[in-house]
Amino acid sequence: MARVTISVIKADIGSLAGHHIVPDQLLEVARTSLAEAKRKRDIVDFYVTAVGDDLQLIMTHKKGENSQDIHGLSWEIFKKATKVAKELGLYGAGQDLLSDAFSGNLRGMGPGFAEIEIEERPAEPFVVFMADKTEPGAFNLPMFKIFADPFNTAGLVISPRLHEGFIFEILDVHEGKVVELSSPEEMYDILALIGTPGRYIVRRVYTKGEKEVAAAVSTTKLSLIAGKYVGKDDPVAIVRAQSKFPALGEILEPFAMSHLVAGWMRGSHHGPLMPVSLTDARPSRFDGPPRVVGLGFNVKNGKLIGPSDLLSDVSFDRARAIANEIADYLRRHGPFMPHRLGPDEMEYTTLPEVLKKLQDRFKEVET
Ligand code: F6R
Ligand code: MG
Ligand code: MG
Repeated sequence: MARVTISVIKADIGSLAGHHIVPDQLLEVARTSLAEAKRKRDIVDFYVTAVGDDLQLIMTHKKGENSQDIHGLSWEIFKKATKVAKELGLYGAGQDLLSDAFSGNLRGMGPGFAEIEIEERPAEPFVVFMADKTEPGAFNLPMFKIFADPFNTAGLVISPRLHEGFIFEILDVHEGKVVELSSPEEMYDILALIGTPGRYIVRRVYTKGEKEVAAAVSTTKLSLIAGKYVGKDDPVAIVRAQSKFPALGEILEPFAMSHLVAGWMRGSHHGPLMPVSLTDARPSRFDGPPRVVGLGFNVKNGKLIGPSDLLSDVSFDRARAIANEIADYLRRHGPFMPHRLGPDEMEYTTLPEVLKKLQDRFKEVET
Protein backbone atom coordinates (compact mmCIF):
# COMPACT_ATOMS: atom_id res chain seq x y z
CA MET A 1 0.00 0.00 0.00
CA ALA A 2 1.19 3.45 -0.87
CA ARG A 3 1.62 6.39 1.45
CA VAL A 4 0.05 9.56 0.15
CA THR A 5 -0.46 13.04 1.57
CA ILE A 6 -3.62 15.04 1.04
CA SER A 7 -3.01 18.79 1.42
CA VAL A 8 -5.75 21.42 1.37
CA ILE A 9 -4.15 24.87 1.29
CA LYS A 10 -6.18 28.08 0.98
CA ALA A 11 -5.83 31.81 0.99
CA ASP A 12 -7.89 34.91 0.31
CA ILE A 13 -5.72 36.76 -2.17
CA GLY A 14 -8.38 38.94 -3.74
CA SER A 15 -12.05 38.79 -4.57
CA LEU A 16 -14.71 40.19 -6.86
CA ALA A 17 -17.29 42.81 -5.86
CA GLY A 18 -15.99 42.98 -2.28
CA HIS A 19 -15.29 40.06 0.08
CA HIS A 20 -17.51 37.89 -2.11
CA ILE A 21 -16.16 35.37 -4.65
CA VAL A 22 -12.90 34.38 -6.32
CA PRO A 23 -13.23 35.13 -10.05
CA ASP A 24 -12.31 32.50 -12.68
CA GLN A 25 -9.15 34.34 -13.68
CA LEU A 26 -7.55 33.45 -10.30
CA LEU A 27 -8.76 29.84 -10.43
CA GLU A 28 -7.11 29.59 -13.88
CA VAL A 29 -3.77 30.75 -12.48
CA ALA A 30 -3.91 27.99 -9.86
CA ARG A 31 -5.05 25.31 -12.33
CA THR A 32 -2.32 26.12 -14.82
CA SER A 33 0.40 26.08 -12.17
CA LEU A 34 -0.80 22.85 -10.58
CA ALA A 35 -1.16 21.15 -13.99
CA GLU A 36 2.48 22.04 -14.59
CA ALA A 37 3.48 20.71 -11.13
CA LYS A 38 1.58 17.49 -11.90
CA ARG A 39 3.35 17.14 -15.24
CA LYS A 40 6.70 17.53 -13.47
CA ARG A 41 5.51 14.95 -10.88
CA ASP A 42 5.95 17.41 -8.00
CA ILE A 43 2.39 16.50 -7.06
CA VAL A 44 0.31 13.47 -8.01
CA ASP A 45 -3.05 15.18 -8.53
CA PHE A 46 -5.04 18.30 -7.71
CA TYR A 47 -8.44 19.98 -7.64
CA VAL A 48 -8.82 23.75 -7.57
CA THR A 49 -11.94 25.50 -6.34
CA ALA A 50 -13.14 28.48 -4.31
CA VAL A 51 -15.53 29.02 -1.44
CA GLY A 52 -16.54 32.64 -1.03
CA ASP A 53 -13.42 34.79 -1.27
CA ASP A 54 -11.00 31.92 -0.55
CA LEU A 55 -8.99 30.15 -3.25
CA GLN A 56 -8.67 26.45 -2.40
CA LEU A 57 -5.88 24.14 -3.57
CA ILE A 58 -6.60 20.46 -2.95
CA MET A 59 -3.49 18.39 -3.72
CA THR A 60 -2.19 14.85 -3.37
CA HIS A 61 1.54 14.12 -3.28
CA LYS A 62 4.27 11.92 -1.84
CA LYS A 63 6.11 14.55 0.16
CA GLY A 64 4.46 14.29 3.57
CA GLU A 65 2.89 16.96 5.77
CA ASN A 66 4.54 20.37 6.11
CA SER A 67 6.58 19.78 2.96
CA GLN A 68 8.71 22.75 1.98
CA ASP A 69 8.10 21.88 -1.71
CA ILE A 70 4.31 21.75 -1.43
CA HIS A 71 4.02 24.81 0.81
CA GLY A 72 6.47 26.65 -1.45
CA LEU A 73 4.51 25.68 -4.56
CA SER A 74 1.28 26.95 -2.95
CA TRP A 75 2.96 30.18 -1.89
CA GLU A 76 4.17 30.77 -5.46
CA ILE A 77 0.66 30.14 -6.80
CA PHE A 78 -0.87 32.58 -4.30
CA LYS A 79 1.76 35.15 -5.28
CA LYS A 80 1.06 34.67 -8.99
CA ALA A 81 -2.68 34.90 -8.41
CA THR A 82 -2.13 38.04 -6.33
CA LYS A 83 -0.38 39.63 -9.28
CA VAL A 84 -3.42 38.92 -11.47
CA ALA A 85 -5.74 40.10 -8.69
CA LYS A 86 -3.85 43.41 -8.61
CA GLU A 87 -4.01 43.77 -12.39
CA LEU A 88 -7.77 43.19 -12.26
CA GLY A 89 -8.13 45.62 -9.37
CA LEU A 90 -9.76 42.96 -7.20
CA TYR A 91 -10.58 43.75 -3.61
CA GLY A 92 -8.06 42.74 -0.94
CA ALA A 93 -5.45 41.56 -3.46
CA GLY A 94 -2.80 39.58 -1.60
CA GLN A 95 -4.47 40.13 1.78
CA ASP A 96 -3.55 36.74 3.27
CA LEU A 97 0.11 36.85 2.23
CA LEU A 98 1.56 38.35 5.36
CA SER A 99 5.22 38.05 4.52
CA ASP A 100 7.31 39.11 1.53
CA ALA A 101 9.45 35.98 1.45
CA PHE A 102 8.70 32.28 1.85
CA SER A 103 10.78 30.72 4.61
CA GLY A 104 10.18 27.00 4.19
CA ASN A 105 6.71 26.51 5.71
CA LEU A 106 3.37 28.28 5.48
CA ARG A 107 2.84 28.26 9.25
CA GLY A 108 2.51 31.86 10.37
CA MET A 109 2.58 33.17 6.80
CA GLY A 110 -1.18 33.72 6.34
CA PRO A 111 -2.59 30.89 4.17
CA GLY A 112 -4.53 28.18 6.03
CA PHE A 113 -3.92 24.48 5.54
CA ALA A 114 -5.03 21.02 6.65
CA GLU A 115 -2.93 18.01 5.71
CA ILE A 116 -2.99 14.28 6.37
CA GLU A 117 -0.40 11.69 5.40
CA ILE A 118 -2.06 8.28 5.13
CA GLU A 119 -1.51 4.69 4.15
CA GLU A 120 -4.02 4.52 1.29
CA ARG A 121 -6.70 1.86 1.79
CA PRO A 122 -7.86 -0.14 -1.26
CA ALA A 123 -10.82 2.26 -1.30
CA GLU A 124 -10.07 5.59 0.38
CA PRO A 125 -13.08 7.92 0.58
CA PHE A 126 -12.71 11.30 2.29
CA VAL A 127 -14.43 14.67 2.59
CA VAL A 128 -12.93 18.15 2.31
CA PHE A 129 -14.87 20.83 4.18
CA MET A 130 -14.25 24.49 3.37
CA ALA A 131 -15.94 27.32 5.26
CA ASP A 132 -16.11 31.07 4.66
CA LYS A 133 -16.83 33.99 7.03
CA THR A 134 -15.97 31.99 10.12
CA GLU A 135 -13.09 30.62 12.22
CA PRO A 136 -11.43 27.18 12.71
CA GLY A 137 -13.38 26.60 15.94
CA ALA A 138 -16.53 26.45 13.75
CA PHE A 139 -15.59 22.81 13.12
CA ASN A 140 -15.50 21.95 16.86
CA LEU A 141 -19.19 21.12 17.11
CA PRO A 142 -19.37 19.01 13.92
CA MET A 143 -16.10 17.19 14.79
CA PHE A 144 -17.47 16.37 18.23
CA LYS A 145 -20.72 15.09 16.77
CA ILE A 146 -18.98 13.03 14.07
CA PHE A 147 -16.43 11.35 16.34
CA ALA A 148 -18.00 11.39 19.80
CA ASP A 149 -21.78 11.83 19.74
CA PRO A 150 -23.74 8.55 19.68
CA PHE A 151 -26.89 10.46 18.71
CA ASN A 152 -25.11 11.58 15.54
CA THR A 153 -22.85 8.66 14.69
CA ALA A 154 -24.69 5.38 14.92
CA GLY A 155 -21.43 3.51 14.34
CA LEU A 156 -20.12 4.54 17.77
CA VAL A 157 -22.90 2.42 19.23
CA ILE A 158 -23.49 -0.36 16.70
CA SER A 159 -20.27 -0.83 14.70
CA PRO A 160 -17.58 -2.93 16.42
CA ARG A 161 -14.98 -0.95 14.42
CA LEU A 162 -15.98 2.43 15.90
CA HIS A 163 -17.18 1.30 19.32
CA GLU A 164 -13.91 2.13 21.11
CA GLY A 165 -14.20 5.82 20.24
CA PHE A 166 -11.57 8.29 19.04
CA ILE A 167 -8.74 10.52 20.29
CA PHE A 168 -9.10 14.30 19.96
CA GLU A 169 -6.06 16.59 19.67
CA ILE A 170 -7.10 20.02 20.91
CA LEU A 171 -5.10 23.19 20.37
CA ASP A 172 -5.10 26.11 22.80
CA VAL A 173 -4.50 28.98 20.35
CA HIS A 174 -3.59 31.41 23.12
CA GLU A 175 -0.86 29.22 24.63
CA GLY A 176 0.16 27.44 21.40
CA LYS A 177 -0.14 24.05 23.18
CA VAL A 178 -1.99 20.85 22.27
CA VAL A 179 -3.59 18.20 24.48
CA GLU A 180 -4.82 14.72 23.48
CA LEU A 181 -8.06 13.54 25.06
CA SER A 182 -9.81 10.25 24.65
CA SER A 183 -13.51 9.86 23.88
CA PRO A 184 -15.80 8.60 25.37
CA GLU A 185 -13.78 8.38 28.62
CA GLU A 186 -12.86 12.08 28.72
CA MET A 187 -15.87 13.37 26.81
CA TYR A 188 -16.83 16.00 29.41
CA ASP A 189 -13.26 17.34 29.52
CA ILE A 190 -13.27 17.56 25.72
CA LEU A 191 -16.52 19.53 25.82
CA ALA A 192 -15.29 21.75 28.66
CA LEU A 193 -12.55 22.92 26.29
CA ILE A 194 -14.06 22.93 22.80
CA GLY A 195 -17.26 24.69 23.86
CA THR A 196 -15.00 27.79 23.71
CA PRO A 197 -14.25 27.60 19.99
CA GLY A 198 -12.41 30.95 19.84
CA ARG A 199 -9.65 29.50 22.00
CA TYR A 200 -9.70 25.67 21.96
CA ILE A 201 -9.80 24.08 18.53
CA VAL A 202 -10.12 20.43 17.53
CA ARG A 203 -7.00 20.14 15.37
CA ARG A 204 -6.81 16.42 14.65
CA VAL A 205 -8.73 13.24 15.40
CA TYR A 206 -7.15 9.77 15.57
CA THR A 207 -8.37 6.22 15.83
CA LYS A 208 -7.45 4.37 18.99
CA GLY A 209 -5.04 1.45 18.81
CA GLU A 210 -3.11 2.16 15.61
CA LYS A 211 -3.60 5.89 16.05
CA GLU A 212 -4.44 6.49 12.42
CA VAL A 213 -5.35 10.03 11.46
CA ALA A 214 -9.11 10.35 10.94
CA ALA A 215 -9.45 14.14 10.52
CA ALA A 216 -7.44 17.35 10.39
CA VAL A 217 -8.56 21.00 10.68
CA SER A 218 -6.60 24.10 9.66
CA THR A 219 -5.72 26.13 12.71
CA THR A 220 -4.15 29.26 11.32
CA LYS A 221 -5.36 32.25 13.33
CA LEU A 222 -4.56 35.21 11.14
CA SER A 223 -5.45 37.74 13.78
CA LEU A 224 -3.01 36.19 16.27
CA ILE A 225 -0.25 35.79 13.71
CA ALA A 226 -0.21 39.39 12.70
CA GLY A 227 -0.98 40.71 16.17
CA LYS A 228 -3.90 42.53 14.60
CA TYR A 229 -6.80 41.77 12.32
CA VAL A 230 -5.63 41.20 8.76
CA GLY A 231 -8.28 38.91 7.32
CA LYS A 232 -10.42 35.89 8.04
CA ASP A 233 -9.03 32.60 9.14
CA ASP A 234 -11.78 30.80 7.22
CA PRO A 235 -11.04 27.14 7.95
CA VAL A 236 -10.73 23.89 5.97
CA ALA A 237 -10.88 20.31 7.20
CA ILE A 238 -10.26 16.80 5.88
CA VAL A 239 -12.26 13.84 7.25
CA ARG A 240 -11.74 10.18 6.25
CA ALA A 241 -14.88 8.11 5.70
CA GLN A 242 -16.24 4.57 6.00
CA SER A 243 -15.18 1.29 7.53
CA LYS A 244 -13.11 2.10 10.68
CA PHE A 245 -14.01 5.78 10.23
CA PRO A 246 -17.52 7.26 10.42
CA ALA A 247 -19.78 6.64 7.43
CA LEU A 248 -20.12 9.45 4.88
CA GLY A 249 -23.64 10.19 6.11
CA GLU A 250 -22.45 10.34 9.73
CA ILE A 251 -19.82 12.87 8.67
CA LEU A 252 -22.41 15.06 6.92
CA GLU A 253 -25.19 14.76 9.50
CA PRO A 254 -23.97 17.58 11.83
CA PHE A 255 -24.34 20.05 8.96
CA ALA A 256 -28.10 19.48 8.92
CA MET A 257 -28.15 21.89 11.87
CA SER A 258 -26.74 25.35 11.21
CA HIS A 259 -25.01 26.00 14.51
CA LEU A 260 -23.97 29.52 15.44
CA VAL A 261 -20.40 30.51 14.63
CA ALA A 262 -18.31 33.67 14.89
CA GLY A 263 -17.04 35.52 11.85
CA TRP A 264 -20.00 37.05 10.01
CA MET A 265 -19.79 40.71 8.86
CA ARG A 266 -16.41 42.29 9.69
CA GLY A 267 -15.44 39.13 11.57
CA SER A 268 -17.48 40.58 14.41
CA HIS A 269 -20.85 38.83 14.38
CA HIS A 270 -22.36 35.44 15.13
CA GLY A 271 -24.37 33.74 12.42
CA PRO A 272 -25.64 30.30 11.42
CA LEU A 273 -23.17 28.12 9.47
CA MET A 274 -25.22 27.38 6.36
CA PRO A 275 -24.46 24.19 4.38
CA VAL A 276 -24.28 25.03 0.67
CA SER A 277 -23.25 23.74 -2.76
CA LEU A 278 -20.19 25.12 -4.53
CA THR A 279 -22.59 27.14 -6.70
CA ASP A 280 -24.07 28.77 -3.61
CA ALA A 281 -20.72 29.45 -1.96
CA ARG A 282 -21.13 33.18 -2.62
CA PRO A 283 -21.73 34.99 0.68
CA SER A 284 -23.85 38.04 0.01
CA ARG A 285 -26.33 38.97 2.71
CA PHE A 286 -24.52 41.06 5.32
CA ASP A 287 -21.36 39.46 3.80
CA GLY A 288 -22.71 36.03 4.68
CA PRO A 289 -24.24 34.24 6.35
CA PRO A 290 -21.20 32.04 7.13
CA ARG A 291 -21.24 28.95 4.96
CA VAL A 292 -19.65 25.56 4.48
CA VAL A 293 -19.09 23.38 1.42
CA GLY A 294 -18.30 19.64 1.56
CA LEU A 295 -16.61 17.86 -1.34
CA GLY A 296 -16.43 14.06 -1.38
CA PHE A 297 -13.48 12.32 -3.08
CA ASN A 298 -11.81 8.96 -3.38
CA VAL A 299 -8.05 8.75 -3.72
CA LYS A 300 -6.44 5.84 -5.59
CA ASN A 301 -2.65 5.64 -5.96
CA GLY A 302 -2.69 9.34 -5.17
CA LYS A 303 -5.13 10.13 -7.99
CA LEU A 304 -8.24 12.07 -7.00
CA ILE A 305 -11.58 10.63 -8.10
CA GLY A 306 -14.52 13.05 -7.86
CA PRO A 307 -15.60 15.29 -6.32
CA SER A 308 -19.25 15.07 -5.36
CA ASP A 309 -20.70 18.34 -4.10
CA LEU A 310 -22.12 16.73 -0.96
CA LEU A 311 -24.04 19.52 0.76
CA SER A 312 -25.88 20.43 -2.45
CA ASP A 313 -28.23 17.53 -1.68
CA VAL A 314 -31.91 18.36 -1.17
CA SER A 315 -31.75 16.81 2.30
CA PHE A 316 -29.94 19.99 3.42
CA ASP A 317 -32.67 22.30 2.04
CA ARG A 318 -34.42 22.48 5.39
CA ALA A 319 -31.16 23.30 7.17
CA ARG A 320 -30.70 26.16 4.71
CA ALA A 321 -34.24 27.41 5.26
CA ILE A 322 -33.79 27.33 9.04
CA ALA A 323 -30.40 29.04 8.70
CA ASN A 324 -32.09 31.86 6.77
CA GLU A 325 -34.67 32.21 9.53
CA ILE A 326 -31.95 32.31 12.18
CA ALA A 327 -30.15 34.91 10.07
CA ASP A 328 -33.33 37.06 9.95
CA TYR A 329 -33.78 36.79 13.69
CA LEU A 330 -30.16 37.57 14.54
CA ARG A 331 -29.99 40.49 12.11
CA ARG A 332 -32.86 42.16 13.94
CA HIS A 333 -30.47 42.54 16.91
CA GLY A 334 -28.37 44.95 14.84
CA PRO A 335 -25.35 46.06 16.85
CA PHE A 336 -26.36 44.19 20.01
CA MET A 337 -24.71 41.12 21.47
CA PRO A 338 -24.96 38.17 21.14
CA HIS A 339 -25.36 38.83 17.39
CA ARG A 340 -22.37 41.16 17.61
CA LEU A 341 -19.36 39.44 19.22
CA GLY A 342 -18.04 40.45 22.63
CA PRO A 343 -15.57 43.35 22.79
CA ASP A 344 -12.48 41.10 22.98
CA GLU A 345 -13.40 39.07 19.93
CA MET A 346 -14.41 41.73 17.43
CA GLU A 347 -12.13 42.28 14.48
CA TYR A 348 -13.37 45.83 14.07
CA THR A 349 -14.02 48.12 17.02
CA THR A 350 -14.36 51.80 17.77
CA LEU A 351 -14.73 51.24 21.51
CA PRO A 352 -11.27 52.51 22.62
CA GLU A 353 -11.79 55.74 20.67
CA VAL A 354 -15.34 56.22 21.93
CA LEU A 355 -14.19 55.67 25.54
CA LYS A 356 -11.31 58.08 25.08
CA LYS A 357 -13.55 60.75 23.64
CA LEU A 358 -16.04 60.37 26.50
CA GLN A 359 -13.58 59.94 29.37
CA ASP A 360 -14.21 63.41 30.86
CA ARG A 361 -17.97 63.07 30.54
CA PHE A 362 -18.27 59.89 32.66
CA LYS A 363 -19.35 61.03 36.18
CA GLU A 364 -19.08 59.06 39.46
CA VAL A 365 -22.47 57.86 40.79
CA GLU A 366 -23.68 55.75 43.69
CA THR A 367 -24.60 52.26 42.43
C1 F6R B 1 -14.17 39.49 5.04
C2 F6R B 1 -15.39 39.81 5.77
C3 F6R B 1 -16.11 41.06 5.48
C4 F6R B 1 -15.30 42.33 5.73
C5 F6R B 1 -16.16 43.57 5.45
C6 F6R B 1 -15.40 44.86 5.59
O1 F6R B 1 -14.08 38.12 4.76
O2 F6R B 1 -15.81 39.09 6.61
O3 F6R B 1 -17.31 41.08 6.20
O4 F6R B 1 -14.83 42.35 7.05
O5 F6R B 1 -16.65 43.49 4.13
O6 F6R B 1 -14.27 44.82 4.79
P1 F6R B 1 -13.33 46.09 4.52
O7 F6R B 1 -12.95 46.68 5.86
O8 F6R B 1 -12.16 45.48 3.79
O9 F6R B 1 -14.11 47.05 3.69
MG1 MG C 1 -12.39 38.06 3.06
MG1 MG D 1 -13.00 34.25 3.26
